[in-house]
Amino acid sequence: MMKWVLLLLALFGASPTASFTLVKSVRFSRCLRAAATDCPLPGTAKLDVDWKDLGFEFRPTKSHLKLEYKDGAWGKPELVSEPYIKLHIGATALHYGQACFEGLKAFAHEDNSVHMFRPDENAKRLKSSCERTMMPVVPPELFLEAAREVVKDNMAYVPPYGSNGAMYLRPLMFGSGPRIGLQPADEYTFLIMVLPVGDYYKDGLAPIPALVIEDYDRAAPRGVGNVKVAGNYVADLLPNMEGKKKGFPIGLYLDSSTQSTIEEFSTSNFIGINKKEKKYVTPKSSSVLPSITNKSLMDLAKDGGWKVEQREIPIKELETFEEVIACGTAVVVTPIGKVVKGDDIYNFGDGKTVGETTMELYTRMRKIQNGEEEDKFGWNVQVC
Ligand code: PLP
Ligand code: COI
Repeated sequence: MMKWVLLLLALFGASPTASFTLVKSVRFSRCLRAAATDCPLPGTAKLDVDWKDLGFEFRPTKSHLKLEYKDGAWGKPELVSEPYIKLHIGATALHYGQACFEGLKAFAHEDNSVHMFRPDENAKRLKSSCERTMMPVVPPELFLEAAREVVKDNMAYVPPYGSNGAMYLRPLMFGSGPRIGLQPADEYTFLIMVLPVGDYYKDGLAPIPALVIEDYDRAAPRGVGNVKVAGNYVADLLPNMEGKKKGFPIGLYLDSSTQSTIEEFSTSNFIGINKKEKKYVTPKSSSVLPSITNKSLMDLAKDGGWKVEQREIPIKELETFEEVIACGTAVVVTPIGKVVKGDDIYNFGDGKTVGETTMELYTRMRKIQNGEEEDKFGWNVQVC
């Protein structure tokens, strides 16, 4: 009886607390239809830290979104409060790494409206990752709707305007059906996990040293470096950890066939700033992940009168850059103070101060994301 009362309450716009109880009472899941139609305020959840002190760690939220693919069709998206999943022991994700993911952010504006940054681009990139790994494509409209609904349901966990935080959305897709011979699964699971985040690196926007990774490659020219598959990241765990032990929070990969041109950082694209020639230079390579942040910064740079070059960058060209940037959703922009390759050291600025161009690009990007500057490129997609 109680279950039905709660179900009716949720269907007709119950409070977040009531619908949270309901989620648990109906085996931890409910249909999107039951999601609250009003928009709760961002930043009202009680966290274990202050909003302004958030780092980039897992934190529980109210729900995640789940969508399953079975018998050749997508089912209905559900909001699920239980953070564990039950998985078949033969799932292709576990054995053969049939898995990919995405990363995007949502930001609260001063009027408490909440906006996702370029989610359409993530939907497109997820499509290319799914195609490369033989997984069914999540239709972009479904991706957008699912992302909107899970943010809405977790609105209380969106860091408030002025905290410098964001809600990080981590869509992921994997083969959940069993196979033992090497072939794609026939069942898939698409999830969107959401969590409040702050700075990826503990010192925020401060230059960090990068180490050129010489003993390992990230991706092969005709491999899977240009898509966001899980295997690319497990391949980087060891080099990443070895670099950190030597005092380098970030690693820079060169092209795997000649080891002579710059590819990208472990979790970010590479940008070189040549101030004398007012050039923004970034690698063009079939094994680099097409970064949505880089794409946006290229537009901002062009808009600011910079020449943007996307081409091969020989390692020696590092000598010509006054500033080097690592860019990506999680970090937004990370200034690189120096790049070390064996005995060669390339310094950018004094290694402590954020370069002027880096600061300009970062500020403009963050102002657009925060709704403090006109979104003339149409990048923000309102959730609520
Ligand atoms: N390169 C790699 C290897 C990444 O993991 C990421 C992070 O997503 C990026 C680049 C930056 O891409 P985006 O700006 O779309 O987050
Ligand atoms: C992101 O920037 O969204 C990423 O996916 C980086 C992550 C691997 C830490």
